[in-house]
Amino acid sequence: MEIFKSLGEFRAWRDRLAEHEIKSGARLKMGFVPTMGALHEGHASLLRQSASDNEITILSIYVNPTQFNRPDDLAKYPRTTGQDLEIAHRCGVDAVLIPTASEDLYPDQYTFQIVEKEFSKILEGEHRPGHFEGMLTVVLKLLNVARASKAYFGEKDFQQLALVRGMAKAFFLQTEIVGCPTIRESDGLAMSSRNLRLSKSDRLIAPKLFSAMTEFSNLADARKVLEEIGFKVDYLVDHTHEGSTRRLVAASLGEVRLIDNVPVKGFNEGAAP
Ligand code: PAJ
Repeated sequence: MEIFKSLGEFRAWRDRLAEHEIKSGARLKMGFVPTMGALHEGHASLLRQSASDNEITILSIYVNPTQFNRPDDLAKYPRTTGQDLEIAHRCGVDAVLIPTASEDLYPDQYTFQIVEKEFSKILEGEHRPGHFEGMLTVVLKLLNVARASKAYFGEKDFQQLALVRGMAKAFFLQTEIVGCPTIRESDGLAMSSRNLRLSKSDRLIAPKLFSAMTEFSNLADARKVLEEIGFKVDYLVDHTHEGSTRRLVAASLGEVRLIDNVPVKGFNEGAAP
């Protein structure tokens, strides 16, 4: 497994692969999984999917400052590089890009940005101003650097996945965007690096976020239950995007903000609105 801490070294490696493809006349299938590290089974599932679909799997680990709307969230973001590299190795990753200097990814000194004007302005976008602009901008940069055939994103971050898909379509990107199912703990809590920040007692309450979404067909009832057990709910809605309806939730326990979503079809069909 190759590890690149500078963008220059990574791009030289990527160029050598492209030369090899030209010389051999055979195109290599390449998969790309962008992450912010603190890897868990959710990330591992994307890496395994990529390794099974492609000959080469590239992982990036970069805690992107421009997508954090709260400085404390950025400062407290867990950094577990040694463990991340072990997981990457076990999942069949061929190359890891860990840019250590932000100037590497932002030679424009943060002057260019991708702005989406509709779906990025509601739900997460409403509660985390600037988040999606920062996310889309870094994802575009990373997709251009990796030049992969496919890039893998989790449904856990449903709005993110939809926006990345939209950007790929809008800008004719060459990389196919692949969505992967949400991986959960055995008690239903969607895996997230933020779960590490939950207190012991909040960790016991946290799975209710998922069960409330799936057990109640009435959103007001679900919200009431969550608030009664200590969640501060930012939103809990059914949202139809490009023909499919998802139930999306964001709620905090203490300082820790969690998000989750499930497809609506199947458990509340025919239920009263
Ligand atoms: P990060 O939160 O590290 O997530 C990296 C990828 O893992 C995302 O596509 C996310 O949806 C997926 N993921 C996280 N938890 C998951 C789970 N429980 N099940 C399935 N997939 C899961 O999302 C980001 O980083 C950043 O915004 C990034 C795209 C890297 C841009 O900076």
